[in-house]
Amino acid sequence: MDYKKKVAKLISLEVELEQEKIEQLIEIPPRSEMGDFAFPCFQLAKTMKKSPNMIAKELSEKFNKEGFEKIENLGPYVNFFADKGSFTENTIEKILTEGDNYGASNVGEGKTVCVEYSSPNIAKPFHVGHLFSTAIGNALYNMYKKQGYTAVGINHMGDWGTQFGKLISAYHRWVDQEALEKNAIDELLRIYVKFHDEAEKDPSLEDEARAYFKSLEDGDKETEALWKKFRDLSLKEFERVYKILGVEFDSYAGEAFYNDKMDVVVQELRDKKLLVKSNGAQVVMLEDYNMPPCIVLKGDGASIYATRDLAAANYRKNTYNFYKSIYVVGSPQALHFKQVFKVLELAGNEWAKDCVHVGFGLVKFADRKLSTRKGEVVLLDDLIRESVDKTLEVINESKKEIENKEDVAKKIGVGAVIFNYLKNSREKDIIFDWKEILSFEGETGPYVQYAYARARSILRSAVDIQGRVNYSKLTTKEEFELVKALEGFNKNILIALDKLEPSILTRYVIEVAKSFNKFYNAHSVLNLDDEDLKATRLKLVEATCQVIKNGLKLIGLEVVERM
Ligand code: ARG
Repeated sequence: MDYKKKVAKLISLEVELEQEKIEQLIEIPPRSEMGDFAFPCFQLAKTMKKSPNMIAKELSEKFNKEGFEKIENLGPYVNFFADKGSFTENTIEKILTEGDNYGASNVGEGKTVCVEYSSPNIAKPFHVGHLFSTAIGNALYNMYKKQGYTAVGINHMGDWGTQFGKLISAYHRWVDQEALEKNAIDELLRIYVKFHDEAEKDPSLEDEARAYFKSLEDGDKETEALWKKFRDLSLKEFERVYKILGVEFDSYAGEAFYNDKMDVVVQELRDKKLLVKSNGAQVVMLEDYNMPPCIVLKGDGASIYATRDLAAANYRKNTYNFYKSIYVVGSPQALHFKQVFKVLELAGNEWAKDCVHVGFGLVKFADRKLSTRKGEVVLLDDLIRESVDKTLEVINESKKEIENKEDVAKKIGVGAVIFNYLKNSREKDIIFDWKEILSFEGETGPYVQYAYARARSILRSAVDIQGRVNYSKLTTKEEFELVKALEGFNKNILIALDKLEPSILTRYVIEVAKSFNKFYNAHSVLNLDDEDLKATRLKLVEATCQVIKNGLKLIGLEVVERM
């Protein structure tokens, strides 16, 4: 049983508030001397016509104390001190019974959430900003699923736009077919960069590119086949990366997917008299909302980025009937989304309020020594390779016997990068400092992974355990703090979702690892004469492993058994 629910139930028997409302009001006191749960009585003062202090005092005397060590008031609060034995037993047994499912709930049942993330651009490199989006979106997607929502992961790839004219022109001139087969993105990037260099010397290249894009838009079969080839090759590359990261999507409907779905949207805006001509373009004026106009059609009548987003939002509503539609895209695009959502609202879509832009900061590097192959853009491949290589170095230096060192280094190295993205509030800029990210101390992926591996090694060493599990034996402060941390898993997922902030879960996992280390540094698990205590502490260790594993999985990390 969930202890908070038990407390809420108890309160609901005595006061005129819904149990659910009471649950929302219950607080976790900042210090354990103040109990494990606190109920503030301010809300009741009006209806009960008494001071909050008085109400708290009376209530604390009235409650049935079964299952509690004590219940007492402190000013306007009723403080509940859980009976540690039953709290511990309930928590650990729940974790061990539910296993990989621990932390789940069905609060999202019947609701669909669209989560758009990653969304790299075809024929351009997948860079560290796209990885930021991928990490946040994947974590949100996993958390929604765990809470019973139907989640739709969408990759809104940039697979349309004038750059394809340039690429096709460059392809006809300079492509090296062999290189293209070997590493498509590298070769496409090479010829794309070359196009820009050459076009500076010979501006007529730009005209050629425009003509190619026009023929693509007009549906010319040959250019379309080339476009498709670029898209397929790039997608294959992206999928390789997603596989390394353990990330999946339900839909790869990119920008091009909306080519035939924009007319209706534009027509709707026209019918509602929202479209006006401005400097030759067709725009929706937004000055009443302190925003620049949203351009819908360019002077030549061509659609643009925002037009596709308007069509995409409508398509998602019609297809998935979402309860929420989330866009994980860098904060520099905040204005774009504000404009798009406002236009949707002006067009009379009441669901526009359910569209949410989840922004994030910039990625910077502490030492600019990351070996990029191409100047300033830091490529994802380089980032991951460097992290894995450095991790492997550390593993090789340690004298431990570890099987599949490469595999371990991959999980730790990739995980360290993802963890670093998700450990601070997403709006903050991120600094990549290898020394810090890969350190086994401090708030890092390797620190948490190491706590897990350590706990697993205790479990492996525990053979032939004769004692009987008896939860009332877990009486120390460190044990109870750890149990309390383990109990808070679901609550932290729900807060993280409510705030659309995966860092809340990441920090939670760090707290669990820290509590475990504190416990393990203060108490022995295997080296005990009391066999029952040994058996019981092993249960606590097992439950800790389960929670760390489940928590890391949600944010996109895989645990290792030994490191
Ligand atoms: N492809 C874009 C970029 O790399 C991100 C797409 C964002 N999503 C959207 N619905 N506009 O900047």
